[in-house]
Amino acid sequence: MITIKGLILSGGKGTRLRPITFTSAKQLVPVANRPILFYGIEAIRDAGITDVGIVVGDTKDEISAAVGDGKAFGIRVTYIEQELPLGLAHAVKVSRDFIGRDPFVMFLGDNLIKQGITALVEEFRKEGPNSMILLAEVDNPSDFGVAELKEGKVIRLEEKPKKPASNYALVGVYMFDSSIFEAVENIKPSWRDELEITDAIQYLIDRRLDVRSHIISGWWKDTGKLEDLLEANRMILLDLDRDIQGKVNPDCRVEGNVVIGKGTEVLSSLLRGPLIVGENCRVEHSYVGPFTSVHDNVEIRDSEIEHSIVLSGSKITCIGPRIESSLIGRDTVIRRCSRKPRCFRFMVGDSSGIEVL
Ligand code: TTP
Repeated sequence: MITIKGLILSGGKGTRLRPITFTSAKQLVPVANRPILFYGIEAIRDAGITDVGIVVGDTKDEISAAVGDGKAFGIRVTYIEQELPLGLAHAVKVSRDFIGRDPFVMFLGDNLIKQGITALVEEFRKEGPNSMILLAEVDNPSDFGVAELKEGKVIRLEEKPKKPASNYALVGVYMFDSSIFEAVENIKPSWRDELEITDAIQYLIDRRLDVRSHIISGWWKDTGKLEDLLEANRMILLDLDRDIQGKVNPDCRVEGNVVIGKGTEVLSSLLRGPLIVGENCRVEHSYVGPFTSVHDNVEIRDSEIEHSIVLSGSKITCIGPRIESSLIGRDTVIRRCSRKPRCFRFMVGDSSGIEVL
């Protein structure tokens, strides 16, 4: 059986998730309290791939601290440094030594594909085309890279077309054989100064190499921006089973599928699932509603929150109007102003977003 390698792209700029990405890798933002990246690693592992390269940029130390040598996932990880985020095709270019002559699956580290990629990898293994791209039917193809198909073959790719030739958008998973290396060496940077993977695949098509598609019907998401991250969180929380390890006082109400981690205490509160609260948190006189993920060491007092992601170490106190659809970074404090003058008082990082009532 041919060996297929894995290549996960975990560098990039992450401009659409600022300010979170000023201090942290976007691939490590937790969805249902686990880094997004872990879901991709597991999808690759479940497809029978154990030799995995992870392309890293500025956030390399943080990524390697989280993933380690891969043993915990049952894979072997090689880190590949990309000095600057010069595009997806550039990430392929810098991975040449790791890939060698083997075929490989490339997976964007901020993508979530609920049904996994086993079927795609199996099809590629069996049929051995030069490339196979994963597509999904979408309502708004102009927001994506779009593929034009003819009899299962891809005949043209276009990045965010004004007049899309189909409704098939490129999902962040691609399979290649080593012919892709000639392509990435020969394409030119695009208007945004990146080496585009769509141009590299188009190069293969133009030279009549066999580029096929695999259409997925299940749920997938590119979590590069806030709304999509919240949707991914919703999707993963839907599969949650109730598991209460922490201490919930009898004066609380816990409805639906709720996970509460070890060392967490909940007092006089309503928790309505699906939701997850991590370890060593304290929730008091509060409402924590559906589709919320609260990471470890968080305090929520006299507040209401739902449909949000709260990262570790944050404190939310006396926030009356409900917090919704929010991503709250690590060690953040949000509290009602009690001193005079009563006013809004902010200490907010660059590129943050705040909406007040
Ligand atoms: P993108 O989300 O397309 O790009 P980005 O991370 O630069 O984000 P933004 O558009 O918000 O500025 O990248 C998809 C994935 O590929 C993501 O996990 C980051 C990774 N990536 C690299 O590893 N190297 C690169 O050169 C680029 C552009 C992305």
